[in-house]
Amino acid sequence: MQSNRKKTIVVVFFLACFIFGLLAEAWAGPPPSKGRRHSNRSFQGHHGVGFLGKGICPQIRKTVQAPDKILTQRNPLEKNREVLYAGESLFQIEAQPTACKICHGVTGNGFGLMAQGLNPPPRNFTCRSTMETISDGQLFWVIRNGSPGTGMPAFKNLKDREIWQIVRYLRTFSEKNR
Ligand code: HEC
Repeated sequence: MQSNRKKTIVVVFFLACFIFGLLAEAWAGPPPSKGRRHSNRSFQGHHGVGFLGKGICPQIRKTVQAPDKILTQRNPLEKNREVLYAGESLFQIEAQPTACKICHGVTGNGFGLMAQGLNPPPRNFTCRSTMETISDGQLFWVIRNGSPGTGMPAFKNLKDREIWQIVRYLRTFSEKNR
């Protein structure tokens, strides 16, 4: 009898822990990388994240237009996992001299760590109404040549293919159900 009671207590204890864990997980909600736990600008994320939030949208845009031949170019790379993964790696970590996320933000909202004080502000890639007006060729051209007189540097050392990989990745920021 005695040992049966002990067993029951142990089982109930573990069940209680399990249920507590489930409830805590549900209460905490999705991880911050989805931008839901902290939805306003006042939240300074993990080191290197910058600010979370929706970003400026629509965004005033005075960027110089690419020459016609480049402006009308479509992305020659199809959208697949490899291309998106390569684009993401360059955007978040690898691009030199600085990864794009430092200004454009990990979530693409334009609130990267270095974004404060930049005028005009970095493009908010999550803003569909603004991004819809910018062609693939334009994105390519600005990444390669920068936007003179603004904080947007030229990335001369990226290969054509790498830039198109990034352009594919940039588009995902303004897609539904990302
Ligand atoms: C030092 C800060 C900084 C970094 C790093 C940076 N950007 Fe930008 N970016 C900006 C700013 C500021 C603008 C706004 C320029 C403007 O309004 O003309 C901008 C604008 C853009 C645009 C908009 C072009 C258009 O025609 O509207 C694209 C695309 C872009 N950046 C891509 C990138 C990519 C890709 C990287 C990394 C390879 C990158 N940026 C890195 C600051 C930065």
